Amino acid sequence: MRRLTVDLGERGYDIVIGRGLIGDVARHFECRGSKVLLVSDTNVAPLYADKVRSSIIGRGLEVKLVTVPAGEKSKCADTLLSLYSEALAFNMTRSDAIVALGGGVVGDLSGFAAATYMRGIDFIQIPTSLLAQVDSSVGGKVGIDLPEGKNLVGAFHQPRAVIIDPDTLDTLTDGFFADGMGEVIKYGCIVDAQLFDKLGAIGGRDGFSECAEEIIARCCDIKRDIVERDEKESGCRKLLNFGHTYGHALEKISGYSAYSHGQAVAIGMTYITRLSERDGYTEQGCANKIARLCTMYNLPTQCSAAGDEIVKAITADKKGTLGGVDAVFLKKIGDSFTRRVPFDYFNAEGGK
Ligand SMILES: NC(=O)c1ccc[n+]([C@@H]2O[C@H](COP(=O)([O-])OP(=O)(O)OC[C@H]3O[C@@H](n4cnc5c(N)ncnc54)[C@H](O)[C@@H]3O)[C@@H](O)[C@H]2O)c1
Ligand SMILES: [Zn+2]
Repeated sequence: MRRLTVDLGERGYDIVIGRGLIGDVARHFECRGSKVLLVSDTNVAPLYADKVRSSIIGRGLEVKLVTVPAGEKSKCADTLLSLYSEALAFNMTRSDAIVALGGGVVGDLSGFAAATYMRGIDFIQIPTSLLAQVDSSVGGKVGIDLPEGKNLVGAFHQPRAVIIDPDTLDTLTDGFFADGMGEVIKYGCIVDAQLFDKLGAIGGRDGFSECAEEIIARCCDIKRDIVERDEKESGCRKLLNFGHTYGHALEKISGYSAYSHGQAVAIGMTYITRLSERDGYTEQGCANKIARLCTMYNLPTQCSAAGDEIVKAITADKKGTLGGVDAVFLKKIGDSFTRRVPFDYFNAEGGK
């Protein structure tokens, strides 16, 4: 088992990572009250909720399981209101806690419920998708989508603990595994050339499974370090957006259906690196290295989206920022920086 401590003063917490932890979660968090609202989704609850519930009951706490439909649609105001109702019907007070068991959807949704129910109660994350284990469960961003767009309402609410069992990834589909790999590869690109090389050496999902604990811990540690230095995203936290400016635009113009987030980020990382190699501020060969690694993990590296459509979507997304966007570039694998570029930089056929 590995333990990382996120040092945010009073809001600091531990991330524990270990095979088999799912059956022993209650040992890794404290609850000041007597009740736990356990939130999960229709895919994850049948697989793991019993184990988690038993472990928490074993600590003498009362548990109520709420299962929301799997998928992004549940990250909405209606489901949020239903969580408040469940918490009230369960007579939860300010000292009780919400435990999220699932992917990023369950984490963001129930984290936002915890941030706002009675002005904020304790929150524990048990992420079960790769994306949630390496990214969304760490950092304290929680929220929901609105009909007008994704993640438009939210808060910073740090969890009391993050408990990660890499064995839960065994039941994840190949598609969602690849999706999470987009973020894992991103960490290698922005700060850790050794991680990048290791992902190449292990060759794919089977190799990953064997060293999942180590790789997930490394990713969490990178995010921990960045979040500690920049909790509210004014500075270096922006590096986590590598591949995301283009990726978000691509997801948006394709109606959030043609590309998953990880696929869009893989295409975005490759695209921006090709441009910056062309312009001489990235070591030659980087884009090909990224493309090879993404392909190894079943992620696409190019698409047929029109450059001007991408630029339009980026401009609409960043309309508050004058004169362009702070994009993330690589000097080389493992070494990144941000630089303000005009919106039309992202149109390869257009200007620089
Ligand atoms: N808060 C943040 O900092 C942050 C960062 C990145 C992404 N996000 C958010 O995270 C969400 C995406 O997360 P996600 O990809 O985990 O989506 P998700 O929660 O929808 O999970 C993906 C799918 O995998 C299933 N699943 C999860 N764990 C499983 C397991 N162990 N076995 C079998 N099936 C399993 C889920 O039921 C779902 O169908 C988005 O809403 C995104 O906005 C948040
Ligand atoms: Zn992402």
